[in-house]
Amino acid sequence: MRLSVSFTWHMVDNIIFTPFKIHNLTINNRMVRAATYEGHADFNQTPLPSMIGLYEELAKNEVGLIITGGNATSQSGRTIRPRQASIQTTEQVKRWKKVTDRVHLYESKIFMQISHAGRQTLKKVTKQRVLAPSKIKSPLFKQTPTVLNKAEIKNIVLEYANAAFNAKAAGFDGVQIHAGHGYLVHQFLSPHINKRTDQYGGSDVNRFRFLKEILSEVKNSCGTSYPVIIKLNLGDDLGFSLADAKEYIKLLNDCNTVDAIELSYGTMDQPFNIIRGKTPWDFGFTFSPFFSSYPPILKNIVFHLMKNKIKKSTLPFCFNYNLKSAQEILNLSSKPMLLTGGIRKVRDIESILEQGFTAVTLSRPFIREPDLVKKIRYKLTDASKCINCNLCTIHCDSPKQTHCYLIS
Ligand SMILES: Cc1cc2nc3c(=O)[nH]c(=O)nc-3n(C[C@H](O)[C@H](O)[C@H](O)COP(=O)(O)O)c2cc1C
Ligand code: SF4
Repeated sequence: MRLSVSFTWHMVDNIIFTPFKIHNLTINNRMVRAATYEGHADFNQTPLPSMIGLYEELAKNEVGLIITGGNATSQSGRTIRPRQASIQTTEQVKRWKKVTDRVHLYESKIFMQISHAGRQTLKKVTKQRVLAPSKIKSPLFKQTPTVLNKAEIKNIVLEYANAAFNAKAAGFDGVQIHAGHGYLVHQFLSPHINKRTDQYGGSDVNRFRFLKEILSEVKNSCGTSYPVIIKLNLGDDLGFSLADAKEYIKLLNDCNTVDAIELSYGTMDQPFNIIRGKTPWDFGFTFSPFFSSYPPILKNIVFHLMKNKIKKSTLPFCFNYNLKSAQEILNLSSKPMLLTGGIRKVRDIESILEQGFTAVTLSRPFIREPDLVKKIRYKLTDASKCINCNLCTIHCDSPKQTHCYLIS
């Protein structure tokens, strides 16, 4: 049973500003910056000097824990985002070290998110085979994947461990393994994407094996006391259900290699169902690599055909949109539980924490207002100014740095 923490609104040190622990690491407050693609790397995935300023701004403004955008474990694992960062080379480690050194001048902690895209990428971007647990195409990316053999799976597990080792060398306080949003780990976990009949498929225990091996190898390479957290889905639009998530939470309890769990939803096949809100596809069609080779007239035809279909299948935004499902998971694990998705109001944050969630993770609100935590601490605001227009999100496919398009 979780203890609910009583809350008094007028207290200066309310529940948001109480510290919490992930493994042995103390985090000063319960406001976490959710992993957010930065667009601050060069085209070789090496962080640019501007990455330092981005993260210093969040640390200076008292974000308790910062989680970076997803870093690719290998070239085949990179996404279509042109300025995605990575942590494979000595130079990348050196550049990330400059970021963590700057963040550590303040009280914030910083974790690196590590991910392999699996089938959610394009051959023309990676120049490599598209890899997946089974030969099932992503409905959006439409690449025929090469099915991973056991040796290749082992190799990718080691790439995760290597990325985590490098992250530790670069000064990160911990790592987050991305097990959601339709990326490779999620592809293994989903019974609708993973149709394997070997020891990596066919049952929950088998589908869980890939993640289990990653977590175990990461702890082997970084040491058991190095904090390792995961981002796990509560569901998706392709059939992964809350019941699946519950089974995986139980399996995570059995292996003591994860130190906290962040709960999310959706896949990149319908990216707006991960984040909800407006769907400014008109912009996406301008620069998305999906349509880069189309002549303008064809682009327009495809755009009009797809636009309404996509809009119809998009889930509406509501505040705290993952909360209801997450409540069903909360008591299944004694690990710290972090919640993401549409969390905007101070009163809601307090309520979510009172219910027993350990921390809240916010993405767009920190793009809009990097100083949101400080504003909340000094009672200068009671809600984020982000209006979920998603212009920042749609531009992730462009070479631009991620920023709020409402701020000129
Ligand atoms: C511009 C943008 C980039 C994102 N990049 C990532 C990412 O790299 N990894 C990830 O796990 N989630 C990513 N997300 C999802 C967020 O981490 C978060 O779970 C989601 O946006 C819901 O939180 P919010 O309503 O506070 O924005 C991204 C979201 C946005 C808006
Ligand atoms: S562009 Fe600004 S207001 Fe719009 S979703 Fe992004 S952060 Fe929020």
